[in-house]
Amino acid sequence: MQSSYQAVILAAGRSRRFNTHRSKLSYTLCGQPMIAYPLEACNKLNIPAICVIGHQKEEIIALLDKLNFSNLTYVEQKEQRGTGHAVLCAQKYLHTDHVLIMNGDMPLVDAAIIQSIIQHHETDQAAITFAIAYTDQAAHYGRVVKQKDSIAIIEARDCDQALLQVTCINAGIYLIQRSFLDMMLNQLSEHENGEFYITDLIALASKAHKKIATIEVPFERIRGVNTLQELSTARALKQRDIISYWMDQGVDFIMPETTYVEQSVTIGSDTTIGAGVILQGATSIGNHCTIGASSVINSSTLHHHVVVKSHTIIENSIIKAHAALGPCAHIRNHSLIEEHAVIGNFVEINKTHVGAGTKAKHLAYLGNASLGSQVTIGAGTITCNYNGFTKEHTTIFDHAFIGCNSALVAPVTIGADAIVAAGSVITKDVPSNALAIGRALQINKNNYAAQLRAKYSTLLQRKNRSTTNHSNP
Ligand code: UD1
Ligand code: CA
Repeated sequence: MQSSYQAVILAAGRSRRFNTHRSKLSYTLCGQPMIAYPLEACNKLNIPAICVIGHQKEEIIALLDKLNFSNLTYVEQKEQRGTGHAVLCAQKYLHTDHVLIMNGDMPLVDAAIIQSIIQHHETDQAAITFAIAYTDQAAHYGRVVKQKDSIAIIEARDCDQALLQVTCINAGIYLIQRSFLDMMLNQLSEHENGEFYITDLIALASKAHKKIATIEVPFERIRGVNTLQELSTARALKQRDIISYWMDQGVDFIMPETTYVEQSVTIGSDTTIGAGVILQGATSIGNHCTIGASSVINSSTLHHHVVVKSHTIIENSIIKAHAALGPCAHIRNHSLIEEHAVIGNFVEINKTHVGAGTKAKHLAYLGNASLGSQVTIGAGTITCNYNGFTKEHTTIFDHAFIGCNSALVAPVTIGADAIVAAGSVITKDVPSNALAIGRALQINKNNYAAQLRAKYSTLLQRKNRSTTNHSNP
């Protein structure tokens, strides 16, 4: 518990370099909005956070509300007058001995970095501790300029050619004694562009002979995101982090560079993830599963030993152990597939409970249905669950057999051990153990095929003759 710390996360900026209407902080990386990452890091360390918002503030609040961070409050910066001004807006809500100030646009930051800055700050008993990094891509970052008796951060736009060569940059994370912050915040002066820079506190502290500590952190962890190009780089790095974490937990990725795994996903060990797989939302995959190439799994739970063959889509559903799905199956809308069930090629399962060991191996639609265990669903079976007005339920009890190309018109119940003949349209309940045949009776006309052939060959000959005559008058 870091009770003597409070965080101020800066998220009010106009995101001009994105050239879009939205705030850059609302863009997602691996399923989570950019602003959520620094807040998550604070949350992990139990540091209460004040998020300074302004541009597109309603959108940011709506996104963060969904994530339910504990100890998060908002302060509005009505006019975007720089990072120093943003902190000023939060000043009257500060009450802890030390304040952690962070840019909101650094989604690769993690709790370990913040923890190390806190440790450094405490050991050094500094008035201000800030993170620095070395990079040859310093571009727009503020340069950290250390001289014999002074230290300052000079923004790239204020640097001359010589200063632009400096590779030591300001990361945008500052830990400041509140007594010092209170003394200095109103001494920040306005720049030509009308902004107040939080970075000017360093030169002020230096002039006042206050203790300033810097801590070097890896550039990759503190990259700022100012453009859509930088967002795509950050996304790739975040994705690499997530996948390498799961690899360390024993998950085998066949082609990791083609796989997309969101932050919220969990995967058990001894599971294999095929090329081009997308795992999203609150998805949890058990041990010893195989997820085939190009499958998409969103907000679903897969128990152990599930096999998902390629191009299968699973959404908001639960798949129990040893079930086998796909290729090209679609399971959605709170479906539950029990142990050892088999859902095969081009089968769509919608809001349906499939019992243990039940098989629907080819070309079927099962919607609003409950299937018992060991049921066999033939190819082409359709539950007709929608009459144009209401959705109706189909119930199929244990061991029933539904022949190919049957239409089960809901509401309808098929009893245990019943058999439905292929091609049936079932509109009435079928008692258990019964055989239901719901199709036109077949008539065989012996030798009629030969008569038909003779009749049609004469007709075709006449037709051909008359077209030849027309074309040669
Ligand atoms: C800032 C630092 C720079 C540092 C870099 C690290 C300043 C003046 N410069 O530059 O030294 O190297 O971060 O990435 O601080 N914001 C507000 N209100 C405002 C302006 C900005 O809340 O009026 C927020 C933004 O939404 C953003 C954060 O502050 O999340 C940083 O602002 P940004 O414009 O990205 O600063 P940089 O130019 O990257
Ligand atoms: Ca930035």
